[in-house]
Amino acid sequence: MKKRVYSGIRATGRLHLGNYLGAVKGMLALQDYYDCIFSVVDLHTITVPYDPKTLKQSVREIVLDYLAAGLDPQKCHLEIQSKVPQHTELAYLLSTIYPVSRLEDLPTYKEKRAQYPKYVNMGLLYYPVLMAADILLYKAEVVPAGADQEPHIEVTREIARKFNSMFGNTFPQTERFETEGQYVPALTGQGKMSKSLEGSFINLTDDLETIRKRLASAPTDSGTLSGQIPKEGGVANLFMLLKLFESDSVYNKFEQDYREGKIRYSEMKNVLAEAIYNELKPFQEKRMEFKENSELVDSILDTSLAECHRMSEETMREVREKMGLR
Ligand code: TYM
Repeated sequence: MKKRVYSGIRATGRLHLGNYLGAVKGMLALQDYYDCIFSVVDLHTITVPYDPKTLKQSVREIVLDYLAAGLDPQKCHLEIQSKVPQHTELAYLLSTIYPVSRLEDLPTYKEKRAQYPKYVNMGLLYYPVLMAADILLYKAEVVPAGADQEPHIEVTREIARKFNSMFGNTFPQTERFETEGQYVPALTGQGKMSKSLEGSFINLTDDLETIRKRLASAPTDSGTLSGQIPKEGGVANLFMLLKLFESDSVYNKFEQDYREGKIRYSEMKNVLAEAIYNELKPFQEKRMEFKENSELVDSILDTSLAECHRMSEETMREVREKMGLR
């Protein structure tokens, strides 16, 4: 049997370059070789404030992004998490074997608690258990995801070990699949590119003008410094993006300019904007085609869903039996 691969993205708006480079590129690399399930995790989306009126549309946008990016329904299954209720059933069962204290210590929980102090709900604390259930429901051994997901994947391994020791060998030890862009920095110069940080991201659907504008407001230094490229901050982040989108020779030219103290950031940002847009243009064209063909998208989702139900029910029958529930 082929190894299983699972990954998911929350429906918090359009995909940005961080999602694309950290997660989707990994999905694309794996779909040719493994049995893959790629999800829109709407149940994770609702752990922070959201608008129920637009959630369905947001889920659809991510499905379009997936298809346009090249996830091929002939090679992988596309899932909408809430349509496979086995996720929540397994999450509940797994929550009974995992300590609350460990969940309270996880970085995402602490971050979100600080970000939404009036919205600290059970779902937020439970988030990593649901994520472990997502992965283990399909017994996935590989998860293409950004570096920020590592603590959650560690939780998944811990839960799998605990389950196996209590109820007999059932789940694999999951590993994260790392891409070159596993950590895409924010345009703001601090932290990672993130949908919740205004000014930090470029969306996959942005046109050239928007990309230019977004890059224009990314901070730089005075331009007269010489020496090594700094390890963090606006300049470091621009160089990191340049490395991800441009050839070595273009990167080396700007690096040399920097070292010699003659860098012109407007020129560098222009080159970077075009390189990013050139990578996104075919995606945007394909997205338009899928958007106009909603029957095709619906039928892709229906076929995938049936297969996801079959696979997840197989695991659940085993889990219920091992836990003495059948
Ligand atoms: P989410 O929706 O925050 O992000 C989706 C994917 O994008 C990656 N990512 C990044 N990678 C590199 N640089 C960045 N700046 C950047 N920003 C986001 C994330 O690492 C992620 O891979 N908990 C997950 C969703 C999830 C999931 C799962 C993932 C639920 N169940 C099971 C994998 C397997 C999340 O919030 O991702």
